[in-house]
Amino acid sequence: AVLSKYLGVPKENILTSSGSNHLITVILEGLAKQLTGKLVITRPSFPLFESHAQYLGIPYETWDLDETFQYSMTKLPKLTDGSMVIIASPNNPTGTSLPKKDLRSLLSSYPKVLFLADEAYYEFDDDPYTDLLSEFGNLLILRTLSKTMGAAGVRLGYALGSKDLIGHLGKLRVPFLLNHFTLAAAEAIFENPEMSKFMERNVQNARSERNRMFETLVVKLKGVEVFNSKANFLLLRWPTQDSCQAAYEALMTAGIQVRNISAGPGLKGCLRVTIGLPEENDAFVKAIVGSHRL
Ligand SMILES: Cc1ncc(COP(=O)(O)O)c(C=O)c1O
Repeated sequence: AVLSKYLGVPKENILTSSGSNHLITVILEGLAKQLTGKLVITRPSFPLFESHAQYLGIPYETWDLDETFQYSMTKLPKLTDGSMVIIASPNNPTGTSLPKKDLRSLLSSYPKVLFLADEAYYEFDDDPYTDLLSEFGNLLILRTLSKTMGAAGVRLGYALGSKDLIGHLGKLRVPFLLNHFTLAAAEAIFENPEMSKFMERNVQNARSERNRMFETLVVKLKGVEVFNSKANFLLLRWPTQDSCQAAYEALMTAGIQVRNISAGPGLKGCLRVTIGLPEENDAFVKAIVGSHRL
């Protein structure tokens, strides 16, 4: 009920779960396995999409992002009726998003294709997909309290979709999934007036700091590509795997932990840096610029 009030979405269009990870597995097991068309997964994206499809033995095609990690319509595999497309927007780990107008045109061009949009980072972006739900029955959205709300340990994720789709998923999901502690924590979060202030500060900080960091790094890290982001992290790409590894080790030595994602598909030479407080970001810039050599 608190979630319905917070989002302004009727209860019958919401399905909660213990983290959105769990919903991803339920959707793959319950919906993707039975597809009459194909499963298409954005690449690179959140690794669980591909790893769980592989675990279940579901064949899939990838929607490869372009050279600068943008969604490109020309790279979208040909879709047949009964297919399902998984995207994340803003995407993890690239920070890029699929503009709402592009998703809208996909939803209307392919009414018999189900689009799963993982919006784990949506509060950091400026154009969430929520209002598309009332227009399109072929859209399913995933959200979580783990990112902007900083409450990953509460383990609450949710899906938004048509009454039919949510009802169907509800039957597939394990019953009695949410324990009293999760429910009590979620209520406390949504009902605490300080929470919206915390979120606002968190989102404002991420937005202004990611832009400041982007502008600084573009100038100071010559030869390294810096990708602007709609989430609370930046993706950096070094021209070689060796220079990426050296930068990663220099940061670790300076006591700064970033995500080394360079082993992922399409992510050679890439590190993902979470945006912190201004002083943390300054420390990161100092360490990375100080150790910079190609
Ligand atoms: C795109 C994306 N989806 C889902 C999740 C999982 O979130 P949860 O903590 O709700 O399981 C993450 C977390 O890293 C994520 O990046």
